[in-house]
Amino acid sequence: MGKLAVKNMENPFKFGSVVGGVHFTNRVNEIQQVKSILNSTNHLVLIAPRRFGKTSLIKKTLESNKSKSIFIDMQTINTVEGFASKLLKKIYDIFTVEGLKNKVKSFRIIPDVSINPITQEVSVSFNPQGENKIHLLEDVLNMLNSFAEKKNRIICVLDEFQEIERIDKSLSRQLRSIMQNHSGINYIFLGSQESMMKYIFENKKSPFYHFGSLMNLEPISKNDFFDFIKQGFYNTETKIDDAQITELLLFTSCHPYYTQQLAFTIWNNVQLHNHSNDVVGNTITEIVQIHDYDYERLWQNLNNTDRKIIAGLSNFDSKPLSSEFGKKTGVNSSSTVHSAIKRLIEQGYLIYSGNSYTIEDPYFNLWIKKFMQQ
Ligand SMILES: Nc1ncnc2c1ncn2[C@@H]1O[C@H](COP(=O)(O)OP(=O)(O)OP(=O)(O)O)[C@@H](O)[C@H]1O
Ligand SMILES: [Mg+2]
Repeated sequence: MGKLAVKNMENPFKFGSVVGGVHFTNRVNEIQQVKSILNSTNHLVLIAPRRFGKTSLIKKTLESNKSKSIFIDMQTINTVEGFASKLLKKIYDIFTVEGLKNKVKSFRIIPDVSINPITQEVSVSFNPQGENKIHLLEDVLNMLNSFAEKKNRIICVLDEFQEIERIDKSLSRQLRSIMQNHSGINYIFLGSQESMMKYIFENKKSPFYHFGSLMNLEPISKNDFFDFIKQGFYNTETKIDDAQITELLLFTSCHPYYTQQLAFTIWNNVQLHNHSNDVVGNTITEIVQIHDYDYERLWQNLNNTDRKIIAGLSNFDSKPLSSEFGKKTGVNSSSTVHSAIKRLIEQGYLIYSGNSYTIEDPYFNLWIKKFMQQ
């Protein structure tokens, strides 16, 4: 095959944003699990570390589901009225303006709705009066519920739901009391801050206690990722050996984002420099070097206890709560180790899965190893 033709081909791997279509692999069981919840009257709480594929999984599931759905990223919301406006705008996106007109007129606080005559783009704003801003949300969500039919439930996805605590301290209590009356809506709550999400949905004192079925998303299985990568290289007539795919997956531990990032960069390198035996190792080194400055800054932001624990996890096999780990790292108090680990998980540095703690970013892990050897 001529080199030019190959060069024009599109890289089959994608990382950094929501993936669908050919960039999405498997998750067959997870899609089934989500679907079965959506076919019931239950709500779903999906928790996973950053960039594990939460949003992609839900979008993919909704694509093949005939229900109408609304998707809101809570990171983009700063106020209760902003939340109500965004919800209403999304409702305008899925229902006809005519159908909504009368219902909106009966709201306790009437929104300003304008429709761009050329693009048909709807913009919505509310002018809240004092303490009554929760009425905005209640009226909007109740209207959405009223549009549901027995066989056609409506799905409302709230991504990065842990952000609710930031928006307004009393919002979760108020929202829960509104949502509990909605028999026509399946709510899906996504979140990456595991401890916050668990607090919201698993703490008896929290208004959302046991409001939905809890589902944890794991990395993509090794076999599925192996086949996906092999197929991606094969379809684009780009060479890779099975042993190299295994090497790639061993390095990323099948973390969806880092795996796609490495496969993407290896593919580019094979295209540019031809296939070589050490392309996986060289590409990993290249990515670590590109991030050298960021990793140095990350490292500088960690306090000394955190550094000892992260360096310990990077260099030793022992469990961080064991006395052996304490001896090796010099952090002898297990309560100090415990609280540092909790904090590092919250900040996204560490992941707890399969009964062990690992450094979230495998490139950062390698950078630390090299850094400590200097
Ligand atoms: N099913 C999948 N198949 C292949 N790659 C995937 C899949 N799901 C996720 N990825 C990879 O992981 C990346 C992150 O996916 P996504 O944005 O859906 O995750 P997320 O958990 O919602 O992340 P965030 O915490 O940033 O919101 C994607 O860009 C893609 O590279
Ligand atoms: Mg997401």
